Amino acid sequence: MRIVSGIQPTGSLHLGNYLGAIRNWVRMQDSMEEGAQCLFFLADLHAISMPHVPAELRRATLEMAAALVACGIDADRSVLFNQAQVPAHSELQWLLNGTARMGWLSRMTQFKDKSGKNREGASAALFTYPVLQAADVLLYQATHVPVGEDQKQHLELARDIAQKFNNDFASEDAPVFIQPEPIIPPQAARIMSLRDGTAKMSKSDPSDMSRINLSDDADTMVKKIKKAKSDADALPSDTEGLDGRPEALNLVAIFATLADRSQAEVLAEYGGQGFGVFKPALAELVVETLSPITTRFNELLNDREALDAILARGAAQAREIAGPTLAAAYRSLGL
Ligand code: ADP
Ligand code: NA
Repeated sequence: MRIVSGIQPTGSLHLGNYLGAIRNWVRMQDSMEEGAQCLFFLADLHAISMPHVPAELRRATLEMAAALVACGIDADRSVLFNQAQVPAHSELQWLLNGTARMGWLSRMTQFKDKSGKNREGASAALFTYPVLQAADVLLYQATHVPVGEDQKQHLELARDIAQKFNNDFASEDAPVFIQPEPIIPPQAARIMSLRDGTAKMSKSDPSDMSRINLSDDADTMVKKIKKAKSDADALPSDTEGLDGRPEALNLVAIFATLADRSQAEVLAEYGGQGFGVFKPALAELVVETLSPITTRFNELLNDREALDAILARGAAQAREIAGPTLAAAYRSLGL
């Protein structure tokens, strides 16, 4: 079993990114059986399909790498790298562009969504990036790829490309590519803003008090939880009692997600108590869980050499795994 998964580099990381995305990767790695392997990459090549600022992309890529390592991605067990440091991704994409059909790409709903009304002004990369995604996984003979609802269509495309390429250019007993199977990741947590409980916690919120950042120190986290919007009522003893109380629901949901308990269990413990009791407990849990992560995260961001070394080693491993498949793809095409 080999799982390949990419994550968009994003900077200014917060509790929502951790609980909604990064922690799931760590869990996937930790649940791998003996002999199975995860390859995790920062999808920096994908990022150029949309307008972007180069310095910000570089910073976001490093931040995401630091966060992944700080949160528990172990470079001794998993292969962690930036896509741009493994040229085989771009090379294979070009080779697969010969197999992907215009009609297939035209049916990708993400292109329609992301290009919006300005189809003519969209980059060609936005149109062909599903082919890069296919290259990302086919390059490593991935057996499984975690896909959310919005990525199912792209994995189908990767499977179609693999099948057509094998049909057209490989003999039946020596296919060049494996058709990867989807794994549906566990439903990701959705963490809301501390300001109102109804908007998503996001780096785009102008108020820093609306989110817990991975770069915050413990005192700041405690202060933010203390100031988080709540109401004057006690917590209910069951989840129905949270209806119509988005701020209370959000704080309970954060507690439950961090503690890996159900909201009902949290309410069984804290129901009847006011926020004067619940917030300090939540603050303690947030600090206890995030402190080791934020410490390591800040250390790594201040030690570029260490971080670069981790990524360089991952890229070298990735290039080695990719080598034979890329060579076979060239050969089959008569190149
Ligand atoms: P932001 O909203 O801060 O700009 P991104 O859009 O860059 O975050 O998201 C990066 C990853 O983190 C994505 O996988 C996204 O689903 C996840 N994520 C972002 N915000 C949240 C949130 N509030 N709750 C859960 N997951 C989130
Ligand atoms: Na966003």
